[in-house]
Amino acid sequence: MTDKNPSIHGQWSSRFAFILAATGSAVGLGNIWKFPYITGENGGGAFVVVYLLCIAALGIPIMIAEIMLGRRGRQSPINSMRSLSEEAGVDPRWHYVGWAGMIAGFLILAYYSVIAGWSMAYIVKAFFGSFINSDAEEIQRLFENLMASPVQQIFWHTAFMIITMQLVMRGVQGGLEKAVRFLMPTLFVILILLVGYAMSTGAYEQGMHFLFSPDFSKIDADAVLTAMGHAFFTLSLGMGAIMAYGSYLPNHVSIVKTTFFIAGADTVVALLAGIAIFPLVFANNLEASAGPGLIFQTLPLAFGHMSGGWLFGLLFFILLFFAALSSSISLIEPAVAWLAENKNVERHQACVWSGTACWALGVGVVFSFNIWSDIKLFDKNLFELLDYLTANLMLPLGGLAIAVFAGWMMKIQHAEQELELPAEGFQAWQFLIKYVSPAAVFLVFLHVLGVL
Ligand code: TRP
Repeated sequence: MTDKNPSIHGQWSSRFAFILAATGSAVGLGNIWKFPYITGENGGGAFVVVYLLCIAALGIPIMIAEIMLGRRGRQSPINSMRSLSEEAGVDPRWHYVGWAGMIAGFLILAYYSVIAGWSMAYIVKAFFGSFINSDAEEIQRLFENLMASPVQQIFWHTAFMIITMQLVMRGVQGGLEKAVRFLMPTLFVILILLVGYAMSTGAYEQGMHFLFSPDFSKIDADAVLTAMGHAFFTLSLGMGAIMAYGSYLPNHVSIVKTTFFIAGADTVVALLAGIAIFPLVFANNLEASAGPGLIFQTLPLAFGHMSGGWLFGLLFFILLFFAALSSSISLIEPAVAWLAENKNVERHQACVWSGTACWALGVGVVFSFNIWSDIKLFDKNLFELLDYLTANLMLPLGGLAIAVFAGWMMKIQHAEQELELPAEGFQAWQFLIKYVSPAAVFLVFLHVLGVL
């Protein structure tokens, strides 16, 4: 498959390869670790409804736009935005969107790799049978011990960063593609198994009720912001990751169909994770609002008591690790692509530099779970601060900029040419990207600021 204007970094070998990589980027800790715990912290059903609305009204149109900008730009997000603004005859400062995104990806990876490190630590625990016949208290203690140990966490965080950077170094076709091929379907199967176990806990209905009966009195402006931010986070939008992946996409592939597939798969995985986890929470009298430790304090209970639990537990944490890995590589790809294009450094050197800087910030994140847990800014420790700054502020703002650029700056014929949609389909997308998405982001921000 050859194209007239391929990216200098290579190109996906097929549409399937792109789908795998982009789904690999979307499905990650955000679905299995973050979605359940923020849903628990924000009261359940109503939060889920807002999240789903954001996926439909913001996530899908903006993902279409972001892939489109990437494919038309064919470079790192920063340089793509620069040449696209030239093509559209608008202010070249639009390329700052690429900059902001590169920084956001970098900040996200700093804490993402720490959590991914936890999942690696849990592979070892699963292997040594630490969950077998344990009660909720023992499982909780296991997690607390890991939190209290900077040395263990730094060890796993370091291991995870090294593996990530090794993969990124190999570039688009070598590393990124192969990593995902068999993992997604297997992860899916294990989640279904866990849902099966959740049905047998006696609290299945309570869990479903928590997740799917909305009580809007339970959410406030900040919960709405978190739900919106998470829609961006879980689909990997707003920072150029999907734009960078789009730049390696062959020309004739349907962006819209691909987007629906990715968003659908991502949402299903998140909901399955929630359905598997909340019955366990209620059956064992745990706190739905336990925070970032939620999956580590619930799922091991299932593995400790279900038949075949040793094997499934081991497999689950291995898959979680791979899901995290296929997301991490997309977080750092824009930075690496840009360094390689602009700074004239080799790809592997770009990896070493950006990886080391990211690792160092991650060490600070590890400390925020123990020795620095009392150091707070705006009432948030370093982990919470990075998460809030990126997911709740930088990604929605990046998404807003992408929507405005695609809807208002770029020439309509160019968008039409890229998307190849029937007229009504194109108009629907145009309406969403020009009016609905920007207005939604804007209104949520006004709401949070208390203006509305
Ligand atoms: N979407 C991934 C997850 O849900 C995380 C992720 C990967 C991401 N690349 C991203 C989030 C880019 C925001 C932007 O785990």
